[in-house]
Amino acid sequence: MRMVDLIMKKRDGFELADEEIKFWIDGYVKGEIPDYQSSAMNMAIFFEGMNKREIATLTDYMEHSGDVVDLSDIEGIKVDKHSTGGVGDKTSLVLGPMVAACGAKLAKMSGRGLGHTGGTLDKLESIPNLSISKSIKQMIAQVNDIGIAIVGQTAALVPADKKLYALRDVTGTVESIPLIAASVMSKKLASGTDAILLDVTVGEGAFMKNMNQARELAKTMVGIGSSLHRNTIAVLSDMSEPLGFAVGNNLEVKEAIASLRGQGPEDLMELCYTSGSIMLVQAKICETLEEAREKLHQVIENGAAFKKFCQMVEAQGGDVEYIKHPEKFEMARNIVEVRSKESGYIKEINALDIGISSMKLGGGRETLEDKIDMSAGIVLACKVGSKVKKGDLLCTVYTNKPLNEYASILDEIYGAYKYSRSKVEALPVIREVIREA
Ligand code: URA
Repeated sequence: MRMVDLIMKKRDGFELADEEIKFWIDGYVKGEIPDYQSSAMNMAIFFEGMNKREIATLTDYMEHSGDVVDLSDIEGIKVDKHSTGGVGDKTSLVLGPMVAACGAKLAKMSGRGLGHTGGTLDKLESIPNLSISKSIKQMIAQVNDIGIAIVGQTAALVPADKKLYALRDVTGTVESIPLIAASVMSKKLASGTDAILLDVTVGEGAFMKNMNQARELAKTMVGIGSSLHRNTIAVLSDMSEPLGFAVGNNLEVKEAIASLRGQGPEDLMELCYTSGSIMLVQAKICETLEEAREKLHQVIENGAAFKKFCQMVEAQGGDVEYIKHPEKFEMARNIVEVRSKESGYIKEINALDIGISSMKLGGGRETLEDKIDMSAGIVLACKVGSKVKKGDLLCTVYTNKPLNEYASILDEIYGAYKYSRSKVEALPVIREVIREA
């Protein structure tokens, strides 16, 4: 078999046989197929797509390209969640402790942010001394002990995705439904969980820009999970504006702490309550979504979810004093208020523009090697639908960059805002729930 023939076959719109997909994935992981041929294949798939069988086969070979985790030493139904990425998405930091405080077992392996989207691991690492490096054995012990661990994916888990994702990120091939579905599901299946809640983001700040694409991606992933007897449900969530108010690593951790203390933004909390209710029913802890939602409200109100987060931080070596006193987090040197130049209703806060601006302020990586400034980012003062007058605060910018570097970024932030003279309704954060392929 020759890789070039397979690339041309897909380029010309033909289906790849199972053994041809295996040849590609095996060869690429072993280093026998070079990056340039895998890039060409990704681009061919981007344009020509894949059918259900091809996507299932690709997922299967990716899942088995490295170790597969056995979580059977954890008692009960293990649940996991995965977001397809967004701006200001600190959901796992709030939702994880909430469901764990209700008795769910969450052994979560998270990723880093790249480009305009943030990653849970980077956010967690803004907590001094916290370690995201745990062996599978240590992670299992932690989940058995306190019900939750959020750690980094080990190098041996789904190496095919690690190589392919990094390549797609720099070759314009991220936004492909077969490639995202195989990437997400191979990781979730390899991490050994019983039930999977997928948060498929939709809108400007997401990879899926419209509902049709998001629905198709969600159904594809739910189909893969269900065919392998994993209870898989997808929530389609709005990512046209950033989630919550804070964008940037320690700024988002502070918002997550406030949320766990009962002062969370409405959209973030609604996403946590809806996703958490589904997860508690998947874990068979609750029989109905209503009962689950009630339980989740209780653990916020009685402080159990906040306590669970503190336990997790402590178990992973983090300094809990920062969680109890978030004012201890390092603050950027330059704090700049961005004020409205117009009056009206906010019609749009473009999540992609805000995500890119936050990254440029130092809050994200442009390449994998870049070091993140944990204190950099943007905190919104209002959301879509808010009425503002000229001079009102739109957002606050946090950066350690000098004025000559951040001045042009302020212009880009202004560009993210669109106004309307008439009243505007923000989109609901939960756009749809997909339970069947
Ligand atoms: N998240 C993933 O894990 N993989 C993708 O391809 C896109 C988002």
